[in-house]
Amino acid sequence: MAASCSSSISLRPDRIGLRDRALGVSSDSETFRSISFSSHLHNLPFKSLEKRGHVHSLRMSAVVRADISEQMQIDISLSPRVNSVKPSKTVAITDQATALVQAGVPVIRLAAGEPDFDTPSVIAEAGMNAIREGYTRYTPNAGTLELRSAICHKLKEENGLTYTPDQILVSNGAKQCILQAALAVCSPGDEVIIPAPFWVSYPEIARLSDAKPVILPTLLSENFLLDPKLLESKLNEKSRLLILCSPSNPTGSVYPKKLLEKIANIVAKHPRLLVLSDEIYEHIIYAPATHTSFASLPGMWERTLTVNGFSKAFAMTGWRLGYLAGPKHFVAACGKIQSQFTSGASSISQKAGVAALGMGYAGGEAGTTMVKAFRERRDFLVKSFKELKGVKISEPQGAFYLFLDFSSYYGSEAEGFGLIKDSESLCRYLLDKGQVALVPGDAFGDDSCIRISYAASLPTLQGAMERIKEAMVLLRPAVPV
Ligand SMILES: Cc1ncc(COP(=O)(O)O)c(C=O)c1O
Repeated sequence: MAASCSSSISLRPDRIGLRDRALGVSSDSETFRSISFSSHLHNLPFKSLEKRGHVHSLRMSAVVRADISEQMQIDISLSPRVNSVKPSKTVAITDQATALVQAGVPVIRLAAGEPDFDTPSVIAEAGMNAIREGYTRYTPNAGTLELRSAICHKLKEENGLTYTPDQILVSNGAKQCILQAALAVCSPGDEVIIPAPFWVSYPEIARLSDAKPVILPTLLSENFLLDPKLLESKLNEKSRLLILCSPSNPTGSVYPKKLLEKIANIVAKHPRLLVLSDEIYEHIIYAPATHTSFASLPGMWERTLTVNGFSKAFAMTGWRLGYLAGPKHFVAACGKIQSQFTSGASSISQKAGVAALGMGYAGGEAGTTMVKAFRERRDFLVKSFKELKGVKISEPQGAFYLFLDFSSYYGSEAEGFGLIKDSESLCRYLLDKGQVALVPGDAFGDDSCIRISYAASLPTLQGAMERIKEAMVLLRPAVPV
C-alpha cells in the first residue's frame, strides 16, 4: 500500500540497512542528514536522500528497520485535555486482576461494576431477531422512535416523569450521556459539584468539559449522604452542574425523598445551576428504601437532566445503551454533540432495549430475582464485615457495592509486604496476600475506604471473605479499635 510523508526526518545511517552496495552509497562512511519520504515501497517508501547537503535521487532497496520510529523527530505531546484526565482505576484494577487470572493465579475479582447475571433471554432474543431480520442499519441520531417512546412510557409509569420522545436522547451507554451533558452545558471555569465518594468518571468528565470539579465530602456516619448546608455554602455564580447519584456507586446509599427536597430548595435559589441525576442503579434497591427521581420534585423538571441506562438493571453492560431525559433545549444540544461524535446507538441494542422495557415494572420477574440475589449477598457481607475488627460500615440500601472504612489498619505492617499506608496499599496487600481484587477508595475520593463489588455468586463471596479475613488477621490495626 502506498504511503506518503513529506516531512524531513533525521536518520543515523547505521539504522538503515542498505542492501544494494552497487549503489555506491557507503552507510558507514557517509552521514545522511535527512531522508524525505514521498512514495511507495510498501509502508516505508522513500525517494531521495540528502547527503552532506546534496540531494541524490536513489532507487534503493533499503530496509528500514522497525526501530526507525525511534529516530523520527515526532512531536508526541498530547493535548492538555488528555493530560488533565486520570485513567479509570476500576478499569485498571479489573484488567490487572484479569491478567493474573489468565496467568493462572486464582484471583477472586470483586472490582468490576457489572452484574454477574446474563442478559435475560427475552432481551437477547430481541437482539438476535434484530440481526436476523436485517435491522442492522443506522438509526436516527437520537434513537429510534420506538425506543424513545418506550422510555417515555417507563419514565411516566416508574418515575412519575412526563417527557415526549424529542426530550429523550439514546446513547452508547449512560457514561456517554453524562459526558455529552457536561460538554453541552459547561463553559470554561464553570464548577461541577460532586459529592464524594463519587463514581470515578464524574470529576474526569467535568475536566474533559473544561469545568472544575468541586468535591463535597460526606461522612460514613451520615450514610455518605450530602449535607445540604455544605452544599449551600459551596454554591456560587460559577456553579453549573450538581451531580447526584442514587442509589450510589460506590457507597450503595439511597437519597431519601426528604433530603432530596431539601437539596431541591437550595438548588432552586441558583438560576444557573442544573442537576444531573444519575439513576442507573434505581432498580437495584432494597426495601424499605425507595427511589425518587430528582426531576419529579417541584420546580426541578426544568433544570434536571435524568440519566439512566440498561447496563445494571438488565445486565446489559456490553450492549452499550443508555439515555438522557430533560428539557428539549438541553437534550437537543447533547444530540448535536452526539451527531458529530458517535451518531445513534447500535440498532440491535435498541431493539433489545425495547424488549427490556417490555419486561414489566423494574424488569419484571428477572429484575426481582436479580435484586433478591444481590440482597442476600449484601446481607452476608455486611454480617461478615461486622465481625472483622476495626472495619466501619454503612449498610448499603442499593446498587451492588459495599464501601468499607478500613483506615484503622493504615499504619500497620505486613510481614513480607511492608507498610499499609492507604487504600491503595491495602488493596495491593489483599491482592498479593489474599488474591482478592478490590478497588481503593481514593479512586472514589475517599482514601479511608475500599470498595467491594458483590456482583459475584454467594459461594464466591464466601471464598473471598475467608481470604480477606485470613489476610487481615496478619495485620494489626495501627490504632486501637
Ligand atoms: C454511577 C454510574 N453511572 C453511569 C455508569 C455508566 O454506565 P453505562 O454502562 O451505561 O455507560 C456506571 C457504570 O459503572 C455507573 O456506575
